Amino acid sequence: MTLKLNDKYLKGFVSEADYNDIAPKLAEAHALLSSRSGQGSDFLGWTELPDNYDRVEVERIIKAAERIKKMCDVFITIGIGGSYLGARAAVEFCTSARYNALPKDTPDIYFSGNDISASSLAELLKICEGKDICINVISKSGTTTEPAIAFRIFRKLLEEKYGKEESARRIFVTTDRAKGKLKELSDKNGYETFVVPDDVGGRFSVLTPVGLLPIAVAGIDILDMLKGASDAKAAYSSEKMSENDAYKYACIRNILLSKGKSVEILATYESSLAMTAEWWKQLYGESEGKDNKGIYPSSVTFTTDLHSLGQFIQQGSRIMFETVIDLVNASDKTLIPDDPLNLDGLNFISGKDIHYVNRTAFTATAMAHTDGGVPNIVLELEKRGAYEFGYLVYFFELACAISGYILGVNPFNQPGVEEYKKNMFALLGKPGEDNEKRRAELAKKL
Ligand code: PA5
Repeated sequence: MTLKLNDKYLKGFVSEADYNDIAPKLAEAHALLSSRSGQGSDFLGWTELPDNYDRVEVERIIKAAERIKKMCDVFITIGIGGSYLGARAAVEFCTSARYNALPKDTPDIYFSGNDISASSLAELLKICEGKDICINVISKSGTTTEPAIAFRIFRKLLEEKYGKEESARRIFVTTDRAKGKLKELSDKNGYETFVVPDDVGGRFSVLTPVGLLPIAVAGIDILDMLKGASDAKAAYSSEKMSENDAYKYACIRNILLSKGKSVEILATYESSLAMTAEWWKQLYGESEGKDNKGIYPSSVTFTTDLHSLGQFIQQGSRIMFETVIDLVNASDKTLIPDDPLNLDGLNFISGKDIHYVNRTAFTATAMAHTDGGVPNIVLELEKRGAYEFGYLVYFFELACAISGYILGVNPFNQPGVEEYKKNMFALLGKPGEDNEKRRAELAKKL
């Protein structure tokens, strides 16, 4: 068992009749996806990717990662949204949220270009002082503002530190196969490039070079990760909800939404999974939040957040359900020591594995929250590793596509993301008639 959906905390929230009612919609969604006739079907490359990935390119990624590991102390990955979250999620999932601080024989990895914070860039420049650096800039369009600003800064740093020729060996670019400014610049300067496939959207791209190069630099077995995704593809191939947990998850989400549960909280009990939840939020938020529809995706790390958001979840507005990733086996074993003084009164758990206590906290919380009116979908995950990450990614991507089709939206576009960009460019004084018009409109509201 790599991943298993447990529905025992849905009793009283989702009935057999609900499953029967949604079955025709699931059949329709399955038909749209499998016949590639639904909205956004130009972006279904991720469905076949685990089996059909470009073997030659993946070999090139593994070789580039080996060179990068030897060449640098600090590896800076520049990208935002789908060109950032998956890689970071994978690195933390497979290693630790404290990857950089732990002893290792791979470079520190920093993620930049995912905000426009002056401090965050300045801090990273300080971290780079006296260190050997390599960069991977990742942008499908090649024109996204946040990574473009960061790339200007770090390219300048490298060129000043190493000169043009040596910095060209240290800059790796992941972008469109043939077009875009980044591709042009790479060809001109001789940067090694990797391809973001045309038919894979940003938030579905973690198992393309977008994610795979940084993941490989962290020393993670990317072939095992792709194998996990491929096995998940086979495991979730049935069109029957009873045989396909990804489809069942998609159905449950829509059933709960129809009952007024418009917020989904992805809960984990491991800090190493917090970035996976961030990746998941983008996947579901951008895929479903449109046409005035969708479930608002949020996340918590328990037990930490039981001491901040636990009160709201237990007794606040009854608008949410939880999807809990229950990690069955921890990567580490630590026993709670006995204390002869027993001042904290915890000797009744001395000698117990901390992971056992953590999982007991999960059971206790699931019972409390369901009693409080918050349905819990449980995803039992066998362990943390490259294979499991690939498996989980495919599960969530497939469920997301089906869930979006059941909801009646195009799960593969993100038209709303453009609005802030248009305003920002207009306010920053970008030339052009449209920008000027918008600037005048915005000025009236300022
Ligand atoms: O999912 C998406 O499409 C977005 O999050 C993009 O990945 C993000 O905006 C970055 O775009 P780009 O890779 O073109 O720089």
